[in-house]
Amino acid sequence: MLKNSSLSRRCFLHVSLSGLAGATAVAVGKNRYLMYPCQALDKPKRDFEVHGLAPLRKRAAAKGLIYGAASMQDYLVSDKNLEASLKSECNILVPENELKWDFLRPAPNKFDFTRGDWLAQFAIRNGMLFRGHTLVWHQQQPQWFKEVVNRQNAEKFLVEHITTVTKHYAGQMHSWDVVNEAIEPNDGLKGGWRRSPWFEFLGSDYIELAYQVAAQADPKAMLVYNENDLEYDTPKHETKRTIVLKLLERLKSRGTPIHALGVQSHLMGHETHFNPKKLRSFLSNVASLGLKILVTELDVIDQQLPSSTYERDRIVAARYEDYLSVVLDERAVIAVLTWGLSDRRTWLSMFTPRSDKTPVRPLPLDSNLQRKVAWNAMARAFDHAPKR
Ligand code: G3I
Repeated sequence: MLKNSSLSRRCFLHVSLSGLAGATAVAVGKNRYLMYPCQALDKPKRDFEVHGLAPLRKRAAAKGLIYGAASMQDYLVSDKNLEASLKSECNILVPENELKWDFLRPAPNKFDFTRGDWLAQFAIRNGMLFRGHTLVWHQQQPQWFKEVVNRQNAEKFLVEHITTVTKHYAGQMHSWDVVNEAIEPNDGLKGGWRRSPWFEFLGSDYIELAYQVAAQADPKAMLVYNENDLEYDTPKHETKRTIVLKLLERLKSRGTPIHALGVQSHLMGHETHFNPKKLRSFLSNVASLGLKILVTELDVIDQQLPSSTYERDRIVAARYEDYLSVVLDERAVIAVLTWGLSDRRTWLSMFTPRSDKTPVRPLPLDSNLQRKVAWNAMARAFDHAPKR
C-alpha cells in the first residue's frame, strides 16, 4: 500500500511524465477529456491521511504561508458557528462583496464604508489579516455607473475611487486586488484585453494608473493583479497565462508599483486537462519578475461530479491536493484563500447549481461546519509544502 505522501508524489510524477505521454494519448485518443492520471491512482484507496487536528491557519503558518477565506458581514453577524470556524481555521479575511463598487458607492458622490469597516474590525478583533477585493473590475458596478461614467470623466472616477477607498483602509490592508480580470481573449480585442468600461474609456493605461494611485494612497499595502482562468492545460488558459505574463512584464519594466499576482483558482472538479509542469513553469516565470503570488479565490466546482457525496468529496479533495501540491512548490506563493470556508455559504450554490438539486460541496467544511476530506487534502498540502 503506497504511503500517502509517496502516493501524491507519485501522482505528481505520474501526471508530469504523462503530461508528455498525454499528448500522444490525445493524438490517438477519442475522448475529449483525458482520464485525469491522478484519478487512475484514486481508484486504490487514497485516504487523505492527516496527522493531528491543527487548523489550516496553523499548518499554513508552519510553512510561512497564510491561509484564510472570503466571507460576508451578513453571514458572520447571523451565524456565530460560522464565525467561530472562521476564527479557528483562518489567519486572513477578504470581504466577498463589501469592498466592491456596488457596496461602497450608493451614489456618484457618496461612499458607504459601513460593511467594509465591520469586516475590517472583525479581522482586527480576531487577530486576522485583512485583504481588499477589488478596486477596479468590470462587474458589480452600481446602478448609476452606466448613466454617469463616460470617456470624459472616467479617469476622475477611477482616481477618486481608488484614492478614497485605499486611503480609508490605509494601514489596515495586507493586500489589495487593485485590478481584477482585465484580460479576456474571447472579447476579441487586440492584446486580449477585456471589453470593460475602463478599457473602453481609458485604454489599457488604466491599469498602470490604478496601481500608481493605490500605491500613493496606501504605500504599505501589497498591490495585487487578480485573474481567473490561469489554472488548466486548455487553449484558453494557456493564452491567458501568456498574456498575463506579458502584462506583468510590461508593468514591472515601467516601474509600476505592482507586487503580486492573484490566481483566483476556481477549480472545476470535472476538468482533467491539468498539466502541473505548465502551471509550475508559469508560476516560476511570474516569480522571476520579483512578484509574489496569492491563491485568492480557491474552491472546486462540483456541478458535473457524481451525486454520491462520498465519491464527489474525494474527487474534490483530490483536485485540492493535486493543485496545491503544485502551486505551493513555488516559494513565491505566500497565501491561499478559499472563496468561502463552508458549503453553508458559497457563491456556487447560486452560480453553479447541480442538476440533481443536491447542495454543492466545493469547500473544506461541510454545511454543518465539519471538516470534509477536502479539508484533509488542504491540510496535507500545507504539511507537505516547502517552508518559505
Ligand atoms: O446585495 C444584493 C442584495 O441586496 C439582493 O437582495 C440580492 C438578491 O438579488 O443580491 C445581492 O447582490 C448579490 C451579491 O453577490 C451580494 O450577495 C448579487 O446579486 C450577486 O450577483 C453577487 O454575486 C457575487 C459575484 O462575484 C458577482 O459576479 C458573488 O457573491 C461573489 O462570490 C462573486 O465573486 C467573484 C469575485 O468577486 C471575482 N472572481 C470571481 C468570483 C465569482 O464570480
